[in-house]
Amino acid sequence: ASPSEEKDLVIIGGGVAGYVAAIKAGQEGLKVACIEKRGTLGGTCLNVGCIPSKSLLNNSHLYHQILHDTKNRGIDVGDVKLNLEQMMKAKETSVSGLTKGIEFLFKKNGVEYIRGTGTFADENTVAINLVDGGETSVRGKNIIIATGSEATPFPGLTIDEKKVITSTGAIALKQVPKKMVVIGGGIIGLEMGSVWSRLGAEVTVVEFLGQIGGPGMDADISKSIQKTLGKQGMKFKLNTKVMQGDDSGDTVKLDLEAAKGGKPETVEADVVLVAIGRRPYTQGLGLENIGLETDNRGRLVIDQEYRTKIPHIRVIGDCTFGPMLAHKAEEEAVAAIEYITKNYGHVNYGAIPSVMYTHPEVAWVGQNEVELKEAGVKYKVGTFPFSANSRAKTNLDSEGMVKFLADAETDRILGVHIVGPNAGEMIAEGTLALEYGASTEDVGRTSHAHPTLAEAFKEAAMATYSKAIHA
Ligand code: FAD
Ligand code: NAI
Repeated sequence: ASPSEEKDLVIIGGGVAGYVAAIKAGQEGLKVACIEKRGTLGGTCLNVGCIPSKSLLNNSHLYHQILHDTKNRGIDVGDVKLNLEQMMKAKETSVSGLTKGIEFLFKKNGVEYIRGTGTFADENTVAINLVDGGETSVRGKNIIIATGSEATPFPGLTIDEKKVITSTGAIALKQVPKKMVVIGGGIIGLEMGSVWSRLGAEVTVVEFLGQIGGPGMDADISKSIQKTLGKQGMKFKLNTKVMQGDDSGDTVKLDLEAAKGGKPETVEADVVLVAIGRRPYTQGLGLENIGLETDNRGRLVIDQEYRTKIPHIRVIGDCTFGPMLAHKAEEEAVAAIEYITKNYGHVNYGAIPSVMYTHPEVAWVGQNEVELKEAGVKYKVGTFPFSANSRAKTNLDSEGMVKFLADAETDRILGVHIVGPNAGEMIAEGTLALEYGASTEDVGRTSHAHPTLAEAFKEAAMATYSKAIHA
């Protein structure tokens, strides 16, 4: 098909939101084109986000464990050395395998992949500046905007991705910095801070709020992970604001002040990681050509069926409302295509899990205690520590806990919060329970294999409606 032929659907952006929508549309028999300017598919997540960061988290954890946690297990190792170049190559191999895999899936599902930058010419036409030179355009009966997000810059600091970095620089440093200061103790700050701390950097996290973990993390869980990360060597300055920075020298200087006012202090670092959140990305889309506007936070405004005020133009993923998560983008992609082809779609925004891939991992789904209190909901709490779980004990990896929040009267599960080994896998069980409207008693009366970490999940549920056996 020639690019100028009218499509049933044109998608701008080939990230998780865009590529999943494209594949789903192909499966549903739509004539579909997906425009991506990066040169590879997969967007932030596959190229510079989820995937490369998890590769570095996994391998830096192994390195750190081999250095510090083998003797007591009866394994004497010799000279352990970091080969950062090879660690980066391993990351690149994972990334390129996955991005090429999407190209294969596009071919398999009849999706036309156009490498270029898309700009609205009119409500049905997207003009494209091709990556390999030249221009073209494509017309679509329906259009989906899936242009994602970018790191929010810190005023006064120039991002060069070497000395002042975002997560994109943090997955590609050529050497381990001596001192790294992280502005923002959210998920990116803690994940990437963990990587470089394990590889030998002295890492200090400066966080404006009184707790780490970013929005949504339960306060007890946040305290627990902060303690563990502290033991691993990371330092924290909470309730502290970065006022301004100076990146004119070889090092970067940051002026800090207590959030509620107090004595100012200056810190210095070889590398500063700016991790204060992400913002929707809609630059160059030509929204002005079709009269679409963004809200005060840069998000494209949509209704419940992902439609803008121009009904055949929909928006999904990071560039609109909701948590900036790959699996949220993926759910929206499938739902948006179902709205186009079947007139119905479904995403349960109350049951989207969050995972922080530190060691131990932190994972949660549903509401936390602060949110329940604010909503005036009466709830009960049940917890179980991994230190009382047989598998965690045999693995010598037993920090953390599982915490259930359930309706005080009906016992229906309202939230599950975990800090501990494999929390990111375990939260799938909590999400399923929440999605099915389960009570903690439903979970507590379900057989869980022994010895597994998942027994901690069952026992925390038992502790909510009755009593745990092993605590
Ligand atoms: P994006 O992935 O940003 O994709 C948008 C694409 O659109 C980009 O490739 C861009 O080049 C392209 N584009 C933009 N404008 C145009 C245009 N005009 N024409 C053509 N193409 C255009 N989420 C998780 O769930 N789990 C994780 O572990 C996780 N880890 C992360 C780690 C890091 C370091 C970062 C930064 C993010 C992480 N995220 C994670 C978040 C996740 O990456 C995003 O939620 C996800 O990528 C959103 O998908 P998207 O398709 O909406 O946007
Ligand atoms: P974030 O919103 O998670 O955390 C930012 C933190 O910076 C907050 O705690 C905030 O209080 C703090 N902050 C803001 N301004 C500050 C200042 N001036 N001084 C000190 N602290 C300040 O944002 P982050 O970590 O940048 O991540 C962005 C998004 O990317 C996440 O919200 C998430 O959606 C996505 N992501 C998801 C991952 C995962 O699922 N594992 C991994 C990485 C990113």
